Amino acid sequence: MLLTHIQRTLWLRNVLERVPFRENSYYRHKYCPEVEAAINKQIQAEQEAALKYLNMAVSFLHPSVSRLGAGGFFMKMYHEEFQHSEEFIHYQLSRGGVPLINGLKIQTPNIKITMIEAFKQALDLEHNVTELIQDLIGIAEKAKDYHCVDFVTSIFMTDQMDSINKISHHVTEIARLCDEYGLWNYDQHLATTYPYNHKSLKKL
Ligand SMILES: [Fe+2]
Repeated sequence: MLLTHIQRTLWLRNVLERVPFRENSYYRHKYCPEVEAAINKQIQAEQEAALKYLNMAVSFLHPSVSRLGAGGFFMKMYHEEFQHSEEFIHYQLSRGGVPLINGLKIQTPNIKITMIEAFKQALDLEHNVTELIQDLIGIAEKAKDYHCVDFVTSIFMTDQMDSINKISHHVTEIARLCDEYGLWNYDQHLATTYPYNHKSLKKL
């Protein structure tokens, strides 16, 4: 584990030394290293969130669990977060920064997770990502990088508030359910809004 970390650090240093970027390079217009680092932190947070959602999705889509509605919901969240990470990668490139991509860690599906636990975890995740975005806005404001402030505020803050609101409704509604029938019914309701359309499931 330690060796992997050292190797990763050395590789990163090597890459950064080879890439001819500096704060005042001709392709960087007042793009300060603090903002660049905060964007990279955000890229990694979005990728981590995407993978956590993917892990939740596969947990619910496993045939021993078969909550296809919850699986479809988390699969959609996975795509959304992955798209966010791509947006930040594109932004980093557009400012002449160097996007740093996360290493993948193996995650084991948790087929024992309940619907309420999963949605509460999703809510925590969204609150954490939102705080990170607020930190990023603060760093960009301090650097007087208004282009970055505008990019992050206009696109991502609205998305975050929508996600927190949407997941909060699910937490409230699922918490009211008291039996297996209620959960099954709610999952069916999720499945109509967030269908998981893999071709093998369409035949069921
Ligand atoms: Fe996101």
